[in-house]
Amino acid sequence: MNSSLSIQNLSVSINEKQILKQFSIDVKPGEVHAIMGPNGSGKSTMAYALAGHPNYEVEGGEVWMDGINLLELPPDERAQMGLFLCFQYPTAIPGISMANFLRTALNAVKGEVNDDGKRKPIPITQFRKELRSKMEMLKIDFSFARRYLNEGFSGGEKKRAEILQMALLEPKVAILDETDSGLDIDALKVVSEGINSLRDEKRSFIVITHYQRILNYIKPDVVHVMYDGKLVETGGPELAARLEEQGYDHLYK
Ligand SMILES: Nc1ncnc2c1ncn2[C@@H]1O[C@H](COP(=O)(O)OP(=O)(O)O)[C@@H](O)[C@H]1O
Ligand SMILES: [Mg+2]
Repeated sequence: MNSSLSIQNLSVSINEKQILKQFSIDVKPGEVHAIMGPNGSGKSTMAYALAGHPNYEVEGGEVWMDGINLLELPPDERAQMGLFLCFQYPTAIPGISMANFLRTALNAVKGEVNDDGKRKPIPITQFRKELRSKMEMLKIDFSFARRYLNEGFSGGEKKRAEILQMALLEPKVAILDETDSGLDIDALKVVSEGINSLRDEKRSFIVITHYQRILNYIKPDVVHVMYDGKLVETGGPELAARLEEQGYDHLYK
């Protein structure tokens, strides 16, 4: 079976210091992979490099999706290919409503391309319909769409906003970086339910997390451990439980 996303020997440096060292994983359609590891092991660096953040220097490796090496594409085209990233610290954009932001994002990623290469905006009525159906699916109150993006949002609301964005963009591969950090159990359940409702046989997820807790709600098919920029172990869900019990340092130092 083809992979949804294949990261091969990815090495990344920040300010000339090598952080990620020949990191490789292969994610099949429909699979959920967890990437665990202690703070500073390079998990977020991997996510930022895939997003195409300019501070993250790719020194080697390839990231394949549908026969294309994503690293050769600008960030917006990676999103158009169906890659979606959820970051640990979303930014507030005062004065932009959720609905406006989501429509702009949707047009940029999924708008029909005209002959001149520009994207045609999705008609507002169609957008409203899609937004409403996704909000219903995720059990989010419609008033949420009128609020300003991330302004005064609780930790849980910020994450729900991102899950809603993900639901609208319908990515092939979603990477969630520490989506669980700072969430109480109720918020964690809401977010996990949202992610679970978007799981299907084609869509793949990479869930990056320091703690095992979120994996009680989002059942991974494969668990990887990253340590000092390298993949040190790969296993099934039982690996996450073992890490929780024994700690990273005990196992890998
Ligand atoms: N912007 C940055 N400038 C310099 N060093 C950084 C930067 N971001 C991360 N690092 C370093 O890269 C390493 C990996 O960080 P990170 O990818 O955030 O790890 P994780 O997400 O696993 O906690 C750490 O040693 C961190 O100090
Ligand atoms: Mg991180």
